[in-house]
Amino acid sequence: MSYTFLRTERDGPIERLTLNRPEVRNAFDEQVIAELAAWAADARAAATRGEVRVVVIAGAGKTFCAGADVAWMAKTVSYTVEENRRDATAMSRMFAAIDALPVPVIGRVQGAALGGGAGLAAVCDIVVADTDALFGFTETKLGILPAVISPFALAKIGRSAARELFLTGARFSAARAKEIGLVHAVVPAAELDTAVDGYLREILAAGPEAIASAKALIPEVWRRNVDDATAITAAAIAARRVSAEGQEGLRAFLEKRAPAWSGRKRP
Ligand code: COA
Repeated sequence: MSYTFLRTERDGPIERLTLNRPEVRNAFDEQVIAELAAWAADARAAATRGEVRVVVIAGAGKTFCAGADVAWMAKTVSYTVEENRRDATAMSRMFAAIDALPVPVIGRVQGAALGGGAGLAAVCDIVVADTDALFGFTETKLGILPAVISPFALAKIGRSAARELFLTGARFSAARAKEIGLVHAVVPAAELDTAVDGYLREILAAGPEAIASAKALIPEVWRRNVDDATAITAAAIAARRVSAEGQEGLRAFLEKRAPAWSGRKRP
């Protein structure tokens, strides 16, 4: 599929997605949202076929993503309440589709991830940021609020940081973003790709079905007590143990050899 504001590149089992609207710092309007939703559906299908094992999301130019396009949002004043709801629902579904991709999603953040850009970081499983990157749930500074992104952001940063950062709209450093769980590694800009490659190597050395099961398990088990979770966790590990992939991984370890899936392309 071809896109106007996205660039995609398939590098063996690695799907690289670049937001490509640098003149407005990769801000997203309804077209970018529709393209991201279409891309997420394609990526899910490719992952299900086993063609894609990991995704890297980046932004073209000096900024990862400046969030929702302010000019587009200003225009929505002429929309009906129903039209505004429809737009916001589309945005929510787009974030949810990326959040639920059955493969790991790595965010490569340079410059800034603000508003919906911070939301995009929140739906990544792993976020690598440059030391000087700025983050912020800046919506209240614009008289709006971080609504659509809130479930994803809250799941990452928790209520306490959300109460501070959603309410103030303050910008914060990559170091702070790491402290609150929005970011996992902070490195100088020149080392961003090396840090991403390190994560890619780890992911490609692990069983793809095992990774998909682990990713699906996290939201299933989150906020359940152990008693409620037991049936889910027992079923999950039982299914993996008897699977061909699980058997291969366990045997490979005992036989001191690399498992079959790790022979594929490495970065
Ligand atoms: N929506 C629409 N346009 C945006 C935008 C956004 N969210 N963020 C930046 N732009 C545009 C600017 O209006 C400017 O356009 P112009 O060249 O026509 O003047 C262009 O992108 C470059 O922005 P500029 O601020 O000069 O770039 P910068 O590199 O100095 O700073 C940011 C980058 C992201 C730090 C800064 O643009 C910013 O703070 N943007 C607002 C982010 C925000 O609050 N988003 C939340 C939306 S809910």
